[in-house]
Amino acid sequence: MKKIRLGILGFGTVGGGTVGIINNTIKEIERRLGRHTTIVIEQIALRNLTKKRAVDTSGIKITTNPLDVVNNPDVDIVVELMGGTSLAKECFEIAIANKKHIVTANKALIAEQGNELFAEAAKNNVVIAYEAAIAGGIPVVKAIREGLSANKINWVAGIINGTGNYILSEMKQPNADFGKVLKVAQDLGYAEADPTFDVEGIDAAHKLTILASIAFGIKLQFSKIYTEGISKITAEDITFAQQLGYQIKHLGLASRTKDGFSLRVHPTLVPNSALIANVDGVMNAVMVNGDSVGTTMYYGAGAGAGPTASAVVADIIDIIRGLEQPPQDRVSGLGFALNSLKVEPVIDITEIECHHYLRCFAKDKKGVLATITKMMSDSNISIDNLHQEPCSTNKNDATLVILTNKVKESSINKLLEKLASFKDIDGEIQRIRIDSLE
Ligand code: NDP
Ligand code: HSE
Repeated sequence: MKKIRLGILGFGTVGGGTVGIINNTIKEIERRLGRHTTIVIEQIALRNLTKKRAVDTSGIKITTNPLDVVNNPDVDIVVELMGGTSLAKECFEIAIANKKHIVTANKALIAEQGNELFAEAAKNNVVIAYEAAIAGGIPVVKAIREGLSANKINWVAGIINGTGNYILSEMKQPNADFGKVLKVAQDLGYAEADPTFDVEGIDAAHKLTILASIAFGIKLQFSKIYTEGISKITAEDITFAQQLGYQIKHLGLASRTKDGFSLRVHPTLVPNSALIANVDGVMNAVMVNGDSVGTTMYYGAGAGAGPTASAVVADIIDIIRGLEQPPQDRVSGLGFALNSLKVEPVIDITEIECHHYLRCFAKDKKGVLATITKMMSDSNISIDNLHQEPCSTNKNDATLVILTNKVKESSINKLLEKLASFKDIDGEIQRIRIDSLE
C-alpha cells in the first residue's frame, strides 16, 4: 500500500478533530482514495507536551518545533492548524520550498498573505488547500470555485462566523449575558485564540476577503473590507428587530457594483422571510448569486472540531487524488488563472445605499419627536416605521426605534452627527443596516 505522510502543525480543536477523523475513518478514506493508497500521520507539532489530549497519538512523532515538520523529508503534506500569521507564514514558505502540499484552516494567513503564498506555491507546483478556512464544514470554496464556475458571480452574502452567530442567537433568550455566552462559545472550541477576532468582525472579514477573491476573480484585499462587529448590539435591539419582523445577523456582504466591488462585514437586520434569518447557533450559511444559476445557499456548522476537520480531511483526500495530475491541470488555488487576478477598486462604505434601523433614548417631553423627525426630513430621509416606548433604564426617557427609507450611508452619517449633538438625546444612537438579500 502506498503511504502519503502527513505532518500536522497544531493539535488543538481542529488538529485534534483531524487526527480523530483519520484514526476513526481510515478504511473509508482508503476506499475513497482508491489506488492502494493510505494516509499516515508522520508527525505532529504542538506547544505543550504535558497537556492531556483526548485523541490517540500512539506511533506518531511529536515535536514542539513546527519547523521540524516542514523540514521533515518523510512528510508529503503539511496540515497547518496552529493559526497565527508569522510562524505559520514561515512554515508555509519552507513547506512550499520543500515541495510539500499544504492544507490549512488559517483564514487570517490566507486573507492577509495569500497573494504571495499562492504565487510561490504555483511556482513550486504545490497546492494550498483551505476549504476549512471558511464556514467550517460547509464546502463553500468548492461550491463557488468549481460548482459555480460557469457563472459570473454577482454577489455573496453570508453568516460566516459561528461564534458571532451563536452569541446573537443566545442573546434572544431572556437575561442572556454577552460575556457568559462568549465563554460558552470558547469552551465549545468555536472562538479564535483571540475572540475579539470573532466579536469585532475581523474573522468574518478574513473569510469575506477569500470569498470575494474566489467569487469575482480578484486579488485578496483584506485591508479594504469595511468591518464592524457585534459588540455594540444589545438584547433590546434584538427584541425590537424581532418585533418589527427582522432578525439581527452578522453578515459578510460582497457584491459587484458599477463603480467597483462592495466588501463589508457588519450586523444587519434581515427580514424573517429570508431563509438566512433563521440560521441560528453555530450554523453558518452562505448565499451566492450567479448570473446563470440565480441565488443558491449553502448551510452547515461554521465552527467546531468535527465540521472543520471534515473540511480539512476532504482537502487532504483531494490533494492525494490529484497527485499524479500535471500541475497545470489542477484547479488554481483561487479558482482563476493567477496572473489574471488584479487589485480592483472597492467602493467606500459611504457610497452604499440601504434602509437603516436607528434606536436612541430621547427625553420624554413635548417637541422632542417633532425635532427628530424634522432633522430627518431636512436630511431628506423619510421614515418607514417608528416605534416609541418608555425607556427601561431611565424613566425620563423614551426609547425610539426608527426604520428609514433607502438612503445613502453618507446621508445617514450626517443625520447621526446632527442627532448626536441634540441635547435631548441621551447616550449613543444605534444604527444597523437593513438588507432583504434579494
Ligand atoms: P487551538 O488553539 O485549539 O489549537 C492550536 C494548536 O496549535 C494547539 O495544539 C497548539 O498547541 C498549537 N500551537 C500553537 N502555536 C504553536 C507553536 N508555536 N508551536 C507548536 N504548536 C503550536 O486552535 P484551533 O484548532 O481552534 O484553530 C486552529 C486554526 O484553525 C486557526 O487558524 C483557526 O482560525 C482555524 N479554524 C478554527 C476553527 C474552529 O472551529 N476552532 C474553524 C475554522 C478554522 P497546544 O495544544 O500545545 O497549545
Ligand atoms: N472562530 C471561527 C468562527 C471559527 O467562530 O466562525 C470558524 O472559522
